Amino acid sequence: MDDLIPQIVSVKNVDTGPFFHLQQLYEFEFSPITKSQIDENGLYDYKSLQASWNNHSYDAHLFMYDKKPVGFCVVNLNSQINQDPDTKDIAEFFIMPNFRNKNFGEKLAHQIFDQYVGKWEVRQLIEAVQARKFWLKTINNYTKCNIEENIEEDKNGCFYVQRFSNKKI
Ligand SMILES: CC(C)(COP(=O)(O)OP(=O)(O)OC[C@H]1O[C@@H](n2cnc3c(N)ncnc32)[C@H](O)[C@@H]1OP(=O)(O)O)[C@@H](O)C(=O)NCCC(=O)NCCS
Repeated sequence: MDDLIPQIVSVKNVDTGPFFHLQQLYEFEFSPITKSQIDENGLYDYKSLQASWNNHSYDAHLFMYDKKPVGFCVVNLNSQINQDPDTKDIAEFFIMPNFRNKNFGEKLAHQIFDQYVGKWEVRQLIEAVQARKFWLKTINNYTKCNIEENIEEDKNGCFYVQRFSNKKI
């Protein structure tokens, strides 16, 4: 199985189906940090989950392996920090636990970066230590360590942001 890499498939329907289900798992994963609670049906509030990106232009992608979804990614098509339309941003990125630590996340992130040439910002909540570790190794390998990292703050709190460009000079 390690020889194959999941395929990236564009998704239009984010309100039902596999994207919806995997996004619930993503929220579960971060709930110790975000303190999100499920409702009486056992679901996280997907409208508030998606509010961080669906008020803007975005692309949603599923990662498919052996015809099953094993992860997903949402790319914001403008900066979430200063709205720059030439800057892309990773809104959400998720790999199912049984498919982790096989370098799939890094390879898929590199393929996603390749699809959008220009400036990039990748952000993590300050508490998301493992996510930051993943993004630092993934972006450093992609850019040959040509990356800028800062701690910034918005109304939701402090976050790390890594900036880089894959524009050919
Ligand atoms: C972060 C994530 C996408 C990494 O996917 P992956 O396919 O395992 O990534 P890779 O195999 O390319 O890299 C694994 C590295 O990611 C890091 N990592 C981050 N979260 C991890 C987790 N929950 N379990 C294992 N490794 C994790 C580790 O540092 C690991 O590096 P190491 O082997 O040196 O310890 C995946 O763990 C995940 O979906 N986590 C939950 C959601 C999340 O944190 N998303 C990123 C923020 S948007």
